[in-house]
Amino acid sequence: MTETTVRKQYNQLAAVYDLRWRNYIVNTLSFLKTWVEISPTDTVLDIACGTGEFERLLLTEYSSQQIVGIDISEEMLAMSTTGYAYAKLKFSAYPQVSFQTASASRLPFGSNSFDVIVSANSFHYFDEPLVVLKEMRRVLKADGKVIILDWCKDYLVCKICDLVLKVFDPAYKQCYTQNQFHYLLNDENFMVCRATKIRFGVVWGLMVATAKVKT
Ligand SMILES: C[S@@+](CC[C@H](N)C(=O)[O-])C[C@H]1O[C@@H](n2cnc3c(N)ncnc32)[C@H](O)[C@@H]1O
Repeated sequence: MTETTVRKQYNQLAAVYDLRWRNYIVNTLSFLKTWVEISPTDTVLDIACGTGEFERLLLTEYSSQQIVGIDISEEMLAMSTTGYAYAKLKFSAYPQVSFQTASASRLPFGSNSFDVIVSANSFHYFDEPLVVLKEMRRVLKADGKVIILDWCKDYLVCKICDLVLKVFDPAYKQCYTQNQFHYLLNDENFMVCRATKIRFGVVWGLMVATAKVKT
């Protein structure tokens, strides 16, 4: 149910997304890039990649990085000739970068496919967070890592946003405290290796975790 609503919402938002959220995207994804520690030979999956801004940042460092982005909104990924550079258009010069329309709950990849999985600013939309984490674990290589960045309910503003959005935004599911988030990871057999909380401006309070599959 939420997935259909999210798809519709982001299909409508796609044309203005990069511009409307410019500061937020630049701040959060620049931070994520310094956090992830990706090597040039890693194969990267970006879940709910949106317009591909994180891919663009990664390619500024290693232009041959292998990256796959998936998103439920085909418009966020769509090639556009009407002005704004959507994900597929941005990457037409990088044949090793590809995008697919897919749900985070049903990843269209074989097991053990990726060295690194990232997901930014999207976990609060996931209907079935444990199913998403299970899918991440399935497609991750045994020695791979998952990095998730999202809103953190430990911050008062996020707590208020969570209450308001649950009432007024049918696409929104929920955000989590850092403890709840780590419990979810733990439930799906991930071990958190590195984590922090971080503020961007006065409004946004986020958390990030790097996790590996428990051995
Ligand atoms: C706020 S945007 C973030 C995009 C990008 N990661 C970024 O940080 O700029 C949230 C994205 O999550 C996608 N999304 C939400 N639920 C999803 C799901 N279940 N499967 C795949 N994509 C999803 C939306 O379509 C949207 O593009």
